[in-house]
Amino acid sequence: MERTFVMVKPGAVARGLVGEIIARFEQRGFRIRAMKFMLLDRGLAEEHYSEHKEKDFFGGLVSSITSGPVAAFVLEGPEAITVVRRMMGGTNPLAAEPGTIRGDYGLDIEANIVHGSDGAASAEREIRLYFKENEIV
Ligand code: RTP
Ligand code: MG
Repeated sequence: MERTFVMVKPGAVARGLVGEIIARFEQRGFRIRAMKFMLLDRGLAEEHYSEHKEKDFFGGLVSSITSGPVAAFVLEGPEAITVVRRMMGGTNPLAAEPGTIRGDYGLDIEANIVHGSDGAASAEREIRLYFKENEIV
């Protein structure tokens, strides 16, 4: 079993897609181990996406992710990190395969519907960034 961090981004929350998106992961068989509805402050957003701080899209990414509430989750299941990323689809929603979350719900790369950890180290780091030990059950 593996755990990963998933976040439904502000644009998708505003469109009322939290339930549909999380239903896909639950129907696939992943278990919710933690969940939280929250507004990211600038510091947390910059920390979350610190790997991109030199990129030209960083400012827009931080603005977008702090523009409204997000729904954050720890999901658990076999090969959760890889399987969740495959269910999300590619980073550019215009190229994401139909049937994936990004391929079915979005057109705007800056408001990218959903985030999922991209590896074991980032999953551990992101889970710890968003959840205290006793919030994961
Ligand atoms: P995420 O971290 O949000 O799950 O997305 P990802 O791994 O598929 O893609 P990543 O390279 O980590 O990019 C993080 C977010 O930055 C925005 N982005 N914009 N304009 C661009 O070329 C560009 N590239 C990335 C997207 O919102 C992406 O989700
Ligand atoms: Mg990423």
